[in-house]
Amino acid sequence: MAENFDVIVIGSGPGGYVCAIRAAQLGFKVACVEKRATLGGTCLNIGCIPSKALLQSSETYHQTVHGLKDHGINVGEVKFDLARMQARKGEVVSANTKGIEFLFKKNKVTWLKGAAKFTSSTEIDVAGKAYTAKHFVIATGSDSVPLKGVEVDEKRIVTSTGALELDKVPGRLVVIGGGVIGLELGSVWRRLGAEVTVVEFLDRITPGLDGEISKVFQQTLTKQGFTFKLGYKVTGAKTSDKGVTLSIEPAKGGAAETLEADVVLLAIGRYAYTAGLNLAAAGVETDERGRVKTGAHYETNVPGIYAIGDVIVGPMLAHKAEEEGVALAERLAGQAGHVNYGAIPGVVYTWPEVASVGATEEELKAQGIQYVVGKFPFMANGRARAMGETEGFVKVLAEKGTDKLLGAHIIGPDAGTLIAELTTALEFGASAEDVARVCHAHPTLSEAVKEAALAADGRALHI
Ligand code: FAD
Ligand code: NAI
Repeated sequence: MAENFDVIVIGSGPGGYVCAIRAAQLGFKVACVEKRATLGGTCLNIGCIPSKALLQSSETYHQTVHGLKDHGINVGEVKFDLARMQARKGEVVSANTKGIEFLFKKNKVTWLKGAAKFTSSTEIDVAGKAYTAKHFVIATGSDSVPLKGVEVDEKRIVTSTGALELDKVPGRLVVIGGGVIGLELGSVWRRLGAEVTVVEFLDRITPGLDGEISKVFQQTLTKQGFTFKLGYKVTGAKTSDKGVTLSIEPAKGGAAETLEADVVLLAIGRYAYTAGLNLAAAGVETDERGRVKTGAHYETNVPGIYAIGDVIVGPMLAHKAEEEGVALAERLAGQAGHVNYGAIPGVVYTWPEVASVGATEEELKAQGIQYVVGKFPFMANGRARAMGETEGFVKVLAEKGTDKLLGAHIIGPDAGTLIAELTTALEFGASAEDVARVCHAHPTLSEAVKEAALAADGRALHI
């Protein structure tokens, strides 16, 4: 006889584990299936957390070597120990994944170990045992997009997973794809001494970001030693004992070239992952990009089966998946769970950081919306000067006439933390003036947010 639960969540990433915990809080009998040896999904095991651990270690090293002299601090020879850095990363990951195990126990969520496979629309198989549930939630996440002619071996040609595990700093790292993964992990290895070349198909990096921010971001990374080959496509890769020879050519036509690398990082996006789930047995439909098709409340075309996170449409971000997990659990309990897709922040954890929420200038132009821009540079912010972190600026976009906040974009120190205030403002339907009239502590970086909001009305005080 099949064991029965109220809710079975398939996948324990930020979408799945949060949905499971919230459903358990609401009184459901919940199980979460995970085939990986540890909980937490891509994010905790091979994504957000290990990448931020290495970003932190490499930034600390870089700051020690390059940033201390100006503060009057002289240090002797500074060396890094990559094995220790990697071990620390492992400890950070393990603390987080064990934390989810603890939370499952605390909330009485049963972890079903193994890969889930639908055997019908009302039953799954996990490790040879049958399970039924009133509600199934597909939260199986995503995987790296492959590229024809560039065979990943996770040693010489790596995805983000291999790039997080390198035991030696590559002399020459070539990154295919000028997106978030390429620039974050490129930064890790650049700071530790690698020559980093980014080959990007488009004529700009980070295509989803506000164009002006992207441009400044590229200039900043170039100053840090990145080389960019924009408007190029990779046509093949040959691996030998010595390294990799990449064949590239201009995307719009032109002479082919080669690039030599010790390691190649393939980071051209991620795709919805449903392999092995046997969606056909359940009759669950996917779209042209393999994402599980869902309605407004995460329901699939099959009653009782839902989907959330990277496996459905929308930005592939951990916090987006989490919000969907909570909203769905609350809906299943008859509550009014809801996600505001207009106010989901995005952060690139390079240094300086890049953060954004809401519309970009390009999006507003395309929609024919009239807007005003308020900008304030960190160069004019007292705290940023004291920190020696004056690169970048805050930019707010507000509707012309109503002053309603439509978007905000920051490149600068701690941009990822600063964006929270503007996300809250956007969520509450605030105007730029609302933000400008809030008292901000002095001296803080957040005063640059206030000043940018003031600048939207032409009345910034400190510039
Ligand atoms: P996932 O986290 O992918 O979890 C899905 C889980 O389902 C996996 O553990 C998988 O093993 C399991 N699974 C799949 N099929 C089955 C099956 N049949 N049976 C049982 N289990 C199954 N996002 C951010 O917001 N901030 C960041 O800083 C950030 N950094 C990132 C860095 C990297 C290098 C990468 C690769 C991603 C990063 N992301 C970041 C994206 C983030 O990791 C994802 O958006 C997030 O993990 C999606 O959560 P999810 O729950 O939808 O799926
Ligand atoms: P991405 O979508 O951010 O960037 C991929 C880049 O590759 C784009 O600029 C695209 O134009 C380019 N590209 C596509 N095909 C190409 C080709 N054949 N040759 C050269 N360039 C090509 O994808 P990425 O960096 O792989 O990250 C995947 C996702 O993971 C992100 O979209 C994001 O959702 C998530 N992520 C989030 C992070 C964060 O929030 N800080 C960190 C890392 C990942």
